[in-house]
Amino acid sequence: MSRKRIPFVAGNWKMYKTIAEARQLVPELVRGLSDLRGVEKAICPPFTALMAVKALLEGTDIGLGAQNLYWEKEGAFTGEVSPMMVAELCQYVIIGHSERRTYFAETDQTVNRKVKAALEVGLIPIVCIGETLAENEAGQTQAVITRQVQAGLSDIQLKQDVDVNGTVPLIIAYEPVWAIGTGKAATGEFANRVVQEMIRPTLSTLFGEPAASSIRVLYGGSVKASNAAEFFNQSEIDGALVGGASLKAQEFIEIVRAAAESV
Ligand code: 13P
Repeated sequence: MSRKRIPFVAGNWKMYKTIAEARQLVPELVRGLSDLRGVEKAICPPFTALMAVKALLEGTDIGLGAQNLYWEKEGAFTGEVSPMMVAELCQYVIIGHSERRTYFAETDQTVNRKVKAALEVGLIPIVCIGETLAENEAGQTQAVITRQVQAGLSDIQLKQDVDVNGTVPLIIAYEPVWAIGTGKAATGEFANRVVQEMIRPTLSTLFGEPAASSIRVLYGGSVKASNAAEFFNQSEIDGALVGGASLKAQEFIEIVRAAAESV
């Protein structure tokens, strides 16, 4: 089947960058990314910098994402941010990052509620999945990935109006936990196999084959300018969710360039 999925590269800033620091970084990104066509890009700053970054991205083709949301519409939930509050500013929202699962007790069930809430307000969820080192070494990768996709995305009606680009408003990020922030990326070949043999077949059982082959699946975990092409050249990997390297303008620009060149 011909490859119709448009590459997508997002920077997850995690808990880095004050507003002042964001104001330094974003203009550099805008300058470097503006002539890179054929790839969709987004940056996901902390909540506090979203307004400022949104203003700096005005008139560019760089999207904006949040790193979390809460599923309730509004209410007495001190410290939380509602889907609509995110949707006022962003097009994307990262859901179920392994750091949230590990440090903030998120589960497949809370991920599922958040994904539903995001879709309801028109946000594109970037749903993170991935096995830990112990699970990988115990040969449980398939079981973990299948469970995370199935439970995280259960009972969801994807609008079948696949958009003009042939893409579906849902993005998966395969981020093996052992590769995040460790400098030890997975190999392109391994990540591609996980997507091909575990993620897409599970998406297919949930949403049917046409949608499953239209959903973008990203790789994340120690992606840098020097190894990005290895992932983008894989048939089943449609881009990257970049952590540390997205905090350095030149690194992130080179990663996006590698994605543009893979088309
Ligand atoms: P690193 O790129 O820093 O390994 O982080 C990956 C990640 O967690 C992106 O969400």
